[in-house]
Amino acid sequence: MVEANLEIQQRIKELRGLLQKASYEYYVLDAPTISDAVYDQLYRELQDLEQQYPTLITPDSPTQRVGEKPATQFQSVQHNISLYSLDNAFNFNELKTWQERSQKIAVNSSEIPTYVCELKIDGSALALTYENGILVRGATRGDGMTGEEITQNVKTIRSIPLKLALENPPPVVEVRGEAFLSLNTFEKINQDRKKAGDALFANPRNAAAGTLRQLDSKIVAQRKLDFFAYTLYIPQPDNLEAIPSQTQWENLELLQTMGFKVNPNRQLCSNLEEVIKYCEYWDQERHNLPYMTDGVVIKINPLSLQKQLGFTQKFPRWAIAYKYPAEESPTEVKSVTVQVGRTGALTPVAELNPILLAGTTVQRATLHNRDRIKELDLHIGDTVIVRKAGEIIPEVVKVLLELRPKDAKRFEMPSHCPECGQLVVQPMGEAVTRCINESCPAILQGSLIHWCSRDALDINGIGDKLVQQLATKKLVNSVADLYQLTVEQLMSLDRMGEKSATKIVNAIAASKTQPWSRVLYGLGIRHVGSVNAELITQKFKSVEQLIQASATEIEGVYGIGPEIADSVYQWFNLPANQNLIERLKNAGLQFDSSQKIEDNQTRQSQSLAGKTFVITGTLPTLKRDEAKKLIQNAGGKVTDSVSKKTDYVVVGEEAGSKLKKAQDLGITLLSEEQLLTLF
Ligand code: IVH
Repeated sequence: MVEANLEIQQRIKELRGLLQKASYEYYVLDAPTISDAVYDQLYRELQDLEQQYPTLITPDSPTQRVGEKPATQFQSVQHNISLYSLDNAFNFNELKTWQERSQKIAVNSSEIPTYVCELKIDGSALALTYENGILVRGATRGDGMTGEEITQNVKTIRSIPLKLALENPPPVVEVRGEAFLSLNTFEKINQDRKKAGDALFANPRNAAAGTLRQLDSKIVAQRKLDFFAYTLYIPQPDNLEAIPSQTQWENLELLQTMGFKVNPNRQLCSNLEEVIKYCEYWDQERHNLPYMTDGVVIKINPLSLQKQLGFTQKFPRWAIAYKYPAEESPTEVKSVTVQVGRTGALTPVAELNPILLAGTTVQRATLHNRDRIKELDLHIGDTVIVRKAGEIIPEVVKVLLELRPKDAKRFEMPSHCPECGQLVVQPMGEAVTRCINESCPAILQGSLIHWCSRDALDINGIGDKLVQQLATKKLVNSVADLYQLTVEQLMSLDRMGEKSATKIVNAIAASKTQPWSRVLYGLGIRHVGSVNAELITQKFKSVEQLIQASATEIEGVYGIGPEIADSVYQWFNLPANQNLIERLKNAGLQFDSSQKIEDNQTRQSQSLAGKTFVITGTLPTLKRDEAKKLIQNAGGKVTDSVSKKTDYVVVGEEAGSKLKKAQDLGITLLSEEQLLTLF
């Protein structure tokens, strides 16, 4: 092995310091000082050096945030100090009772009980252990005494320091806090899951907890968890819970000094009135925060008083959670409609008398599925309780049976698909009711929208209305038919002029240059979101390889579990799907990333074989690269300069000397539109 000289060791240290500082400024202070590009450059330099000198890799190196291999399972860990949960107060009276009781118990103390108010972040509690300043263990709360060791996942959370910012760190430091997802990230995750046909997370808390228990830390890293620290222990040999300061307030400040993100919206209160004011203020204001809070945690500030008060069986006596009432409201169910999704799943939706909830007007709420309706015993005309928390979708949580009108009619899931009229099925062991008609217009329309969406084939200009027309006029019966559409056909649709029609045809043609990973995602296979599609196509470089793979081989892809693997395997085994792939291949879509497109020509139409093109000026819809790829896909060659050997010059706006030369040489000129007709 090559020995690293001192200079290299020094550089590695320097790079780590710079990256650590940049991460801290970006993720904890929210005040970046260097650009992403510079960060990436420094990161790559460090990565290269560590690859050359692997013995110099340390667990706190910024390169160690994502693990190499996914875990097969998590180990249980005993918490040295149990993680208690909190007693709740649901109104200010209950808060007062708690405060009076704690004051009575602490009556002999000379300390004046001040209170720290912290926002109660709706996430998942984590216990972090640092030895000699280095993060060595991260664990979930579990049942409070035993949790799961998820160190590799915890390391992906960029606001958690891998190394404490202390000159002389104590031998052991235990930090606790809440891992959470911002509302934005939560919505993005759910959007991706929806597109992949996966069940949505009900709220950011479930999404955070689910993410922390992912076996593949690469997926965890993509989910962008965040963390607020709120508890600090610095155990001494003779006292596990020895405390580094006198108060909780000072502990929060100390945590901040150590490099943690501590919620800035905390307040030190000297009496219950101030505590109540804080709770009232945040009841409204919390809706403006980028993350979910469901209450306020009130902690007695002096640690000596905390010690004196101690714990009940379940809770500390020195802290309580004031819970905001859930945003629920009664309203009447006017009717129930049934939506059919891209996967054929039927979702019943309650149409409501509009109500105001969590700051927005709600007129529809999901009833999830047939089992849920049965459980609720829902009748049309019922008065129900609708809840909207941080959830994006409001839901019906309860029926008020005593208010049921006499003529209320029980709602039954339809036996036939509301979109195509075919008999629906209730798969064994599943709560979902499904339409399995291959040509159901709702399924077709959903698949077309998905195919054209931004993360898939990114075809601009094809929205809900157009898709509906294309499907009902039977111009398109599958995504492959999009590639046969002509300007004339499109012009036969409502409010479609020649210009828009041409634009759409061009946008469809341009999508043929999209890579194999996007094509796979666009196919809309269950559980295959854009991330999974990327992972799968990294291993299976062509569709042939994927079709030949067994479910076990697909499961061998880093980050792909058995359920996903099975879904992909089943999909490619259906003759109808293989037929679709064949048609898309013939249309010129990319099903191979192993070779350069130039080498790929054999399996694609070769209408431009032997022809040489030059492109000049700005084309109306295609980017230069897209046009180039299209020509190459059809067997043509694209060169930079015009000569006698040039067959065609494609001319866009503001074409310059190349146009002139072409005219001089008498070479055929093409507009973008004319070029596209050649394919
Ligand atoms: S203190 C013994 N502080 O709420 C101290 N907990 O319902 C217990 N939580 O399990 C925790 N924000 O996951 C504390 N600022 C905060 C909190 C907080 C959220 C969570 C935590 C705990 C749960 C109790």
